Amino acid sequence: MDVMTNVPLKQYTTMKLGGETRYMVAVNSASDVVTLYRNARKENLPIFVLGGGSNVITRDETFEGIILLNKIEGFEVVADNDDTTDIKIGAGEVWDEVVERAVGLGLQGIEAMSGIPGTAGAAPVQNVGAYGQEIADTLVSLEAYDSKTDSIVTISADECDFSYRNSIFRDSQKGRYCILNITLRLNKAEPRPPFYASLQKYIEDNDIREVNLSVIRVAVLNIRSEKLPDPAEIPSAGSFFKNALIEKWQLEQLQKEYSDVPNYAMSDGRYKVPTGWLIDRAGLKGFASHGMRVYEKNALVLVNESATGYGDLAAIREQIIQTVYDKFGIRIEQEPLELSL
Ligand code: EPU
Repeated sequence: MDVMTNVPLKQYTTMKLGGETRYMVAVNSASDVVTLYRNARKENLPIFVLGGGSNVITRDETFEGIILLNKIEGFEVVADNDDTTDIKIGAGEVWDEVVERAVGLGLQGIEAMSGIPGTAGAAPVQNVGAYGQEIADTLVSLEAYDSKTDSIVTISADECDFSYRNSIFRDSQKGRYCILNITLRLNKAEPRPPFYASLQKYIEDNDIREVNLSVIRVAVLNIRSEKLPDPAEIPSAGSFFKNALIEKWQLEQLQKEYSDVPNYAMSDGRYKVPTGWLIDRAGLKGFASHGMRVYEKNALVLVNESATGYGDLAAIREQIIQTVYDKFGIRIEQEPLELSL
């Protein structure tokens, strides 16, 4: 394992902001992970696990610890029957390449999550989701290094305690585990309607008669390219805010003034209101400040045009949160994880 020192983190995050990390180490196997955590413990250094850096915000101060770059590979069928196939995927695999392979094998369950940047191991952390699918729907279990017990453990989907853009890995057990691989159960059946509204619209607009997995993949990639900046071209972290989860009485109050507010009922009785709509309606689409801009094609995304540091991001973030709160009484929250010191 090579240890790199004083590495600028901008090169490793799609938002392209922030300072350096004292150390960075790429790992290729579970035994690398175990060795690294044991050495770090001796030196009393914190470890932060980084995949593709597409959902992480870094600060300007040097991170006095080790950034673990997860490069663990693998794509292996571990179970198969007439209806489903289980695939075990290394945490360092590029997520979209995993989706492409699954679609190529005729396996259903993650095709609507085409084009999501980042790695397979990062997917369970914030329970990634798009166009009607989320990783919680297909994940069977994962293996992780548990830094608390210094052992490799298997964690079932139930134990991940998934909810909208959340799991134990970014909540109650933050920093405890390093995910090594994930096992997904994918379906052999072809996709069937009803499809997510924007997918259905794409299918109708393009007069598509036969919907199969490849059609869905292409549709999602096209829809995404209209609404989301390509991280290779424009620095961003995808959706910068979580959608708002509000109580029924709050929705009713909102509807009195804005009868067209989009909303989706959640199983827990709350309602999800798109934060992109709130920011847009607050008049902030295209709003620029401190070298950052609210993306014109999608108000949920913040793009970095010429920000010089974390402070620039924090400034526009507070302006947006405050403006939305003043207008709607809803306090919106950042979606990407923040590299804690
Ligand atoms: N909207 C506006 N103005 C905007 C943006 C959105 O009015 O500027 C409205 C849209 O018209 C629509 C609603 O907001 O009625 C929802 O928009 P959309 O379906 O595009 O999805 P989203 O809620 O903005 C979520 C995820 C995306 C995911 C899409 C598609 C979150 C935080 N974001 O966005 O995930 O791709 O759904 O399923 O849940 C990500 O997490 O980085 C991400 C891109």
